[in-house]
This record gives sequence, C-alpha cells and structure tokens, in this order.
Amino acid sequence: MRIIEAPEFKKLVTFIPNKKEPIHNWFYYKEGFSKLLVDYFIDAFNIKKDNIVFDPFCGVGTTLVTCKQRGINSVGIDVSPLACFVSNVKTRNYDIKLLENTVKEALKWKFEKPKELPKNKWIEKAFSKYAIEDIVFYKTKINEIEDNDIKNFLYLALIDSAMKCSYVYKDGAIAKIFKRPVPPVGKIFKYKIRKMLKDIKMQKEDWYKSKAEVYLGDARNIEFSDCSFDFVIISPPYLNKIEYTSIYKTEFSLFFDFPETKLRSYIGEKTDKDIAEAYFEDMNKVLNELYRVCKENAYLIIVIGGGCFPDKVVLVDEILAENAKQIGFKPEKIFIARKSWCTRARTIKVGQIRESILILKK
Ligand SMILES: C[S@@+](CC[C@H](N)C(=O)[O-])C[C@H]1O[C@@H](n2cnc3c(N)ncnc32)[C@H](O)[C@@H]1O
Repeated sequence: MRIIEAPEFKKLVTFIPNKKEPIHNWFYYKEGFSKLLVDYFIDAFNIKKDNIVFDPFCGVGTTLVTCKQRGINSVGIDVSPLACFVSNVKTRNYDIKLLENTVKEALKWKFEKPKELPKNKWIEKAFSKYAIEDIVFYKTKINEIEDNDIKNFLYLALIDSAMKCSYVYKDGAIAKIFKRPVPPVGKIFKYKIRKMLKDIKMQKEDWYKSKAEVYLGDARNIEFSDCSFDFVIISPPYLNKIEYTSIYKTEFSLFFDFPETKLRSYIGEKTDKDIAEAYFEDMNKVLNELYRVCKENAYLIIVIGGGCFPDKVVLVDEILAENAKQIGFKPEKIFIARKSWCTRARTIKVGQIRESILILKK
C-alpha cells in the first residue's frame, strides 16, 4: 500500500466547496465532504450509469446528490433522522408545476401572529421573539400543504432560514449563543425557496433518469443482501472528534418531534473500554458489512481523520487499512489530504494527525 501526500484533496474533504453548489447548499453540514471529491472518484474509478453507489454514512446526501446529477443510482443510510430528512428532500423528483405554484403561493403568505409559542429555554435564547413568531407562523402554513414532498421541501427551506436568523453558532462540537443583528426570517425564507426552486429547475435529464434511496439505519448492520453495490464512498465519524448530539439541538427541538439521537456514540460507544478500542470494534463491524455488500472488485473509499488524545495520536487510516486487509479487502493507497498538530492544554504538541482518503478494493 502506498501512502501519498495529496494536498490537492485538502479542500475536497470538507463541506466548504458545497457552499457554492446548487442543491448541495440547501443545508450546511459541517461534517460533510464535497461534491467535487465524489465527482473525482466516480471519474477515477470509471463508475457507470448502470452501477449502484452506496454511502452508509450519507449525512446530508453529498454522495447521493452527486450521483443523481450524473444519472447514477445510489443508496444512502444514516443514523440521524435530520440527516436522512435533508438527504431525502435533496434527492426527490418533484412535480415542478405543483412546486412552482406552491412556491408562488408561499411568497404571498401574510404574517399572522401565532397564538402559542414553544416553551423551551434554549429556543428562547437562540432566537429573538420576532424570529420565533415568524418560524411558528411558517411552520403552521407549511403543515397545511397536502403534497408530502413539497411540504418537506418548504420545511427544509424554513429550517435553513431559521438557523441563519438565529443567535446560534456552531463552535467545533458545541452550539453556542452569540447575540448579533439577524435578518428577518420571512425575507430569508422567501429568498431560499426561490433559489431552491431555481436549483431544481436547472437539473438536466440525468437527474430524472436515476434514483437515490435514503434509509434511516445503522452502518454496522446493513439490511442489504450480499454483493449489492459497485462502489462505496464514506466518511464515518472520526475517532474522538465530533459529538453530533448537541450541535443540532436547535434544529431538533424546533422542527422534529423525535428526541435528538446520540450520534457520536454509535461509532465507538463510550463503555468501560478504551474509546479507541471501542471505535475500531465498531468500525470493524462496518468494514465486515461493507465487504459483504460490495460486489467483487468494488472499490471502497474512506475519508477519515486521525485520533487526538492527551497522551497519544492514533493513525486511524493505517489501522483501518490493516483491519480491512484482515477482512479481505486489498488496501491500495492512502492519500494524505491534510496534516495538523494534536495538542494538549492548547500548546503542548502530542503528535501529528492527518485527514486522509483510504482506497480499498474487494
Ligand atoms: C462525517 S458525516 C458524513 C457526511 C456526508 N459524507 C455528507 O457529505 O453529508 C458522518 C455521518 O455518519 C452518521 N452516523 C454516525 N453513526 C452512524 C452509524 N452507526 N450508521 C450510519 N450512520 C452513522 C452521522 O449521522 C453523520 O451524518
């Protein structure tokens, strides 16, 4: 296996390039990778329109949307209902006429002061009173829409708009409050639905020729039969990195009835075991499942970051490559996209960690 410095992937392993991409930018997901990365590997491995691409950590659907834009069928799984919701909304085939008419109607909605507001201490801190009133008004109007796909489309626009008009900012793994001037929800929402409609209307024939399926599920236990997929691209949670639980608590408490999921804990549950040990145990279950559902000669691309601890760094890419080899995969390459220092007490260097792309072949 070759380990190659590849700074050309530095931006591509982040969500940042997606901010400029139609559909991909409907919801900002800090943990995501970029459409350009998926495009790169689809081209590099010559993935064809009759292939099926799989991403069992699909997040907000970067892999699925990219495939659909290229006319390739894909399947995504994620354990987070929020991520599945976003992936679903981004990959539906909308009835354009109906969508256009509904958007036109929504642009004419006249604000009425809601009778009741949510009683939640976090929400009261996260928004101005005017913003909460606007959000509740739009939620009520959206709920009256009959067509489920279109209802969800507008709902996603409202979630993203609400967050842009909130005092919340996401600092690493924690959502914090920072009071500042924010625009009115109505203005942002109207701009957003116009833009989303435009994005959908500009999709070409390929978009309608392919299908993306999204399932709420667990990558450690994949409910697909053996040899189902031609190509897999994933970015699992990083070791000891993001605690997804609290970052999205605003979205969860305002827009979803279900409680937030303990996401980070799904890969590498904190038990009495060492956290790294628990992490690799779970990742082994994922690799075993992926080996089973991949077709012969299929490639598996894993975007992954190293583990940073007060007393050690963990080279996750090399350990995963070794574990995958035990399972039967052939590790071909590791591209090092970026390196950073792991520090203790902010200044004491423990060692270098890296974010990399591991290429495995069944
Ligand atoms: C790094 S993000 C992937 C983002 C995705 N590549 C994108 O561009 O949107 C990891 C995702 O794994 C999901 N996840 C965590 N544990 C999981 C599990 N056991 N099974 C499936 N998904 C899981 C999280 O909800 C999160 O969306």
